[in-house]
Amino acid sequence: MNVRSLAAPDLQAYRELMLQAYELDADAYTSTAQERASASTTWWLGRLSDPHGASQAFGAFDEGRLVGSVAVEFETRLKIRHKAHLVGMFVAQPCRGLGAGQALLQAAITHARQRAEVKLMSLTVTEGNTSAIALYERAGFQRFGLEPLAIYTGTGYKSKLHMQLQFAAPG
Ligand SMILES: CC(C)(COP(=O)(O)OP(=O)(O)OC[C@H]1O[C@@H](n2cnc3c(N)ncnc32)[C@H](O)[C@@H]1OP(=O)(O)O)[C@@H](O)C(=O)NCCC(=O)NCCS
Repeated sequence: MNVRSLAAPDLQAYRELMLQAYELDADAYTSTAQERASASTTWWLGRLSDPHGASQAFGAFDEGRLVGSVAVEFETRLKIRHKAHLVGMFVAQPCRGLGAGQALLQAAITHARQRAEVKLMSLTVTEGNTSAIALYERAGFQRFGLEPLAIYTGTGYKSKLHMQLQFAAPG
């Protein structure tokens, strides 16, 4: 499994993988597959690798095929530019349990840590998603809150756990 940052030539593979993610693991995400399917190419390119550095996606490749991805988004406003957000974590079913999720997470953390102004990474994860929560806790993320009624999935409302990894003591 090879992990690297994604760029414009990966657009089609990234879009296909993520539309599969929103469809197959719908409860894990806030957006629906339908909403993302109608998103513009500009939106997908921005998520993949924003020209202004506001977002960067990473991909896990198995024999050259994109099988997993995650993205980091950065705040730009002065008061919150110390925050990075982890979004869109997904590994295709046949490739789970092989360390791709962990490798993607480490790539995202390493990328965010390279920016001196970034002091923490946050994420949200749907209640009951034990393998994702375990993955994040192994990397040092700590739970700091549970948001009730965070998403409506069609089968009911679900809470989201908020987690944070602090890079250094705030100065
Ligand atoms: C959560 C998710 C990304 C994890 O991806 P993954 O590639 O399976 O993650 P890893 O392989 O790094 O770790 C997962 C498990 O495999 C184990 N593992 C890691 N490397 C391994 C190896 N070489 N051999 C065997 N097991 C291994 C880990 O210990 C871990 O075990 P656990 O989850 O049972 O505690 C994946 O399950 C997924 O895409 N889920 C659906 C979408 C989702 O929930 N996204 C998160 C949104 S917040």
